[in-house]
Amino acid sequence: MRNRFSLVDKIAVVTGAASGLSQAIAIGFAEAGADLALADINPDGLHETAKSVRAAGQKAEVCLCDISDAAAVEQLFERVDDAYGRVDILLNGPFAFNREKPEELTLEDWNDAIAVCLTGFFTCAQQAGRRMIERGMGGSIISIGSIAGATALGRGNFVYSVAKAGVHQMTRELAVEWAGHGIRVNALLPAQMRTPSVARWLEDPATDKELVAHLLKGIPMNRLGEAEDIVGPAVFLASDAAAFVSGTLLPVDGGNLALNAGGSHTW
Ligand SMILES: NC(=O)c1ccc[n+]([C@@H]2O[C@H](COP(=O)([O-])OP(=O)(O)OC[C@H]3O[C@@H](n4cnc5c(N)ncnc54)[C@H](O)[C@@H]3O)[C@@H](O)[C@H]2O)c1
Repeated sequence: MRNRFSLVDKIAVVTGAASGLSQAIAIGFAEAGADLALADINPDGLHETAKSVRAAGQKAEVCLCDISDAAAVEQLFERVDDAYGRVDILLNGPFAFNREKPEELTLEDWNDAIAVCLTGFFTCAQQAGRRMIERGMGGSIISIGSIAGATALGRGNFVYSVAKAGVHQMTRELAVEWAGHGIRVNALLPAQMRTPSVARWLEDPATDKELVAHLLKGIPMNRLGEAEDIVGPAVFLASDAAAFVSGTLLPVDGGNLALNAGGSHTW
């Protein structure tokens, strides 16, 4: 049977690949047959991910890259050119976070978060898009957005949520701009997933102990997500199975965005 989800002979660039959701996706892409360029600021995590990619029988280029630095992003893609000669898939994953009340947020903290969460996603998409346009064989660009960019979370998520909303609109705009080149542009919108950063936040003594119960009230499937939960949706969007899917914001959220604020899954 034809495997519509195969990524055999595809080159995928995954940013944020040293940890969490991007790491799980990079390994999932390798298991589907792609060769990888893995980018992050954490060398140890990158090598760990590369080991898993190679164990799946695929190639892994390890690229130290801070996506908030446009020159470093350019170098990352030049490295991909040298190693593979093309890029078929880009997965935008990293984030930076400042938990601040909007009235207290400094401009410096605002700029730092936007530089990673939004500008870094754009510069990577631009570098990948230019190459895909020049090659004329299309491609798939996937960004990790968030439920936080679709509805408001409060609790000092302000700049993060605003950046994620920007990622969602960038997804729609690029999907329209680049459709004629066969480039599909989509976003995944996770709810709270138990990745290292979320685990650290949940375990922080300063975090409200009632929070998990509160979060679960908003998730009809009544559990937090795991990194593995995002792998299938990412492979789908990267693959030919999603050949006519572009500009979509796909929640991976156990039903969170479907639930009205006045609704409930416990009764
Ligand atoms: N975990 C969740 O609950 C959740 C929910 C919604 C959205 N998201 C989104 O999913 C994505 C991944 O989150 P995660 O929970 O897996 O995080 P994580 O902390 O496990 O991984 C993030 C990775 O990004 C890297 N990184 C940070 N700044 C970077 C930079 N400037 N350049 C390159 N790499 C950098 C980190 O080193 C780390 O390896 C983020 O975009 C996040 O906003 C996560």
